[in-house]
Amino acid sequence: MCGIVGCVSKENCYEKILSALSGLEYRGYDSAGIAMVSPSKTLNVRKKKGYVSNLKGKPLAGDTGIGHTRWATHGKPSDANAHPHVSGKFALVHNGIVENFRTLKDELLRQGEVFLSETDSEVIVKLIARAYDGDFFGAVAKACERLKGSYALAVLCADFPGEIVGVRQGSPLVAGAAADALYLCSDVPALCGAAEFICPASDGEFIRIGGGKICFCDGQGREICKQFTRVPPESRLTSAASGTFMEKEISEIPRALSDTLAGLTETDFAPCARILRGAKQVYAAACGTALHAAEMFADVAESEVRCPVFCFAASEFRYRDPLIGKDDLFVAVSQSGETADTLQAARLAKERGAYVLAVTNIAQSSLASLAHFTIVMRAGPEIAVAATKSYNCQLLCLYYLAAQMKFYRTQEFPDWFASLPSLSSAAEETFGCFLQMSALAAKLKDARGMFCLGRGLDVRTAEEGALKVKEIAYVFAEGYAAGELKHGTLALIEEGFPVFTISTSPALASKTDNALAEAKARGAFTVLLSQDTAALSESCADCKCALPALHEKLMPVLAVIPLQYFACRMCLLRGYDPDKPRNLAKSVTVE
Ligand code: G6P
Repeated sequence: MCGIVGCVSKENCYEKILSALSGLEYRGYDSAGIAMVSPSKTLNVRKKKGYVSNLKGKPLAGDTGIGHTRWATHGKPSDANAHPHVSGKFALVHNGIVENFRTLKDELLRQGEVFLSETDSEVIVKLIARAYDGDFFGAVAKACERLKGSYALAVLCADFPGEIVGVRQGSPLVAGAAADALYLCSDVPALCGAAEFICPASDGEFIRIGGGKICFCDGQGREICKQFTRVPPESRLTSAASGTFMEKEISEIPRALSDTLAGLTETDFAPCARILRGAKQVYAAACGTALHAAEMFADVAESEVRCPVFCFAASEFRYRDPLIGKDDLFVAVSQSGETADTLQAARLAKERGAYVLAVTNIAQSSLASLAHFTIVMRAGPEIAVAATKSYNCQLLCLYYLAAQMKFYRTQEFPDWFASLPSLSSAAEETFGCFLQMSALAAKLKDARGMFCLGRGLDVRTAEEGALKVKEIAYVFAEGYAAGELKHGTLALIEEGFPVFTISTSPALASKTDNALAEAKARGAFTVLLSQDTAALSESCADCKCALPALHEKLMPVLAVIPLQYFACRMCLLRGYDPDKPRNLAKSVTVE
């Protein structure tokens, strides 16, 4: 998704902006650009379709600049549509979507303005330039009054070298300070590499950098008192020393799980005791991989807590006019804490009086600031677009939450609770399956499609495994309930078609194996993943992968790991970059 950076430095800051833009690359983008104001008050812009590295070259002059990575929404990826956009003395970068841009554009066209791009963003810079009467901040504030939708902006004015005006409305923006530079950025992890102290803006807040300081204010220019916090060293982005970020992040799962569990045991759940004990019904919502974690939570929590738990794709939640209200718990799950649909769903739940509990990897995220209570997982920065270690940690946090709910209601923890500390070492043991997964990836790399099947909790693992294969290997893959196979999908099985089956519940194993046998009888190439030695020995699968044994209820945290690795190997063998899948973004900040 789009990324914004702004920098005012004591010296030329072109390289600093380039480096911050590199920190934003992991989010996914299709073009990039930089604008700088020189001390002699000239505005220079360099922008290009494609990679940030295309902007390398003789630095533009100036100690004040803004940069952008664009993920196309309005208008195709092109040099002209890349940000920054310029009008008169102003340059602007924008994240988000201006919903009333057509009306505004028509109005500006009637006033004789000429547009150089197809973007909604160019409308904003034109509004600013037209509102300008010598007051930089005033012009930006006035233009913002006309905008509907979500946006984060960073704006430069040629008359004011050394100054940047930023604003946040529904799209993240953070201020950062280091000894040699002051920053604006749309992304907490990307800024953590450059700044020593950070402070996120709330909706409606402006960030003014000028005169060597950062000031937060409202649209009337009234100062808002904010607290900067020191950037924790573990949140700085590190590079993948060798290989890809996705491989690195899979290898970090055991560490991420033990850090997350340590964080959970330190978390004081007392502030949400009332709702954990008394919630009449529970809703969970999320997107993508986080949605699979939320679905798992719904299955586990309903069975442990014995109260209804409903799970929805966040993008659908608010369109169904949900029956959520006071005395209900709403659990929002998001690695980034910035996914627009998840935020909107959480806002709706809060408006209707529900208690919002967030599970996120980013303590300073928009979701965390919106929620009544936040569980912060300690997965560490996740750079690869396809989520891996964050999924395992989300599951851990959600199991822990389900256990707390049970405890607050019955004074008893679920029987699997005592096994949580073993997850980290068991996760490491799953790495023993990687050789087998590499061989499978080599065998199946040219497959036209594949299915992943499971029953009970294994359905979620099947869905998540299939999502990984789709996202990065670009192979059509579908995950679903094994029992549904013969209600349609069996028609698609042909000779050699790969069918992966996940079977971690001994009580369901023979039924799941029936589905595998039905697929095999029609020529499928079948793979079974299980920790259950009886299930493995009795199955007719062509390939059997033995998972480490842990309490069966916790197996989803482990069973997904070989599938994550399989997808990564398949992607690499097919010649793609698992860290930057085509068309996808790490944090989807538009609805
Ligand atoms: C995007 C990413 C996925 C992620 C989803 C939800 O689609 O590509 O990997 O699962 O967003 O992200 P979140 O940050 O809310 O967990």
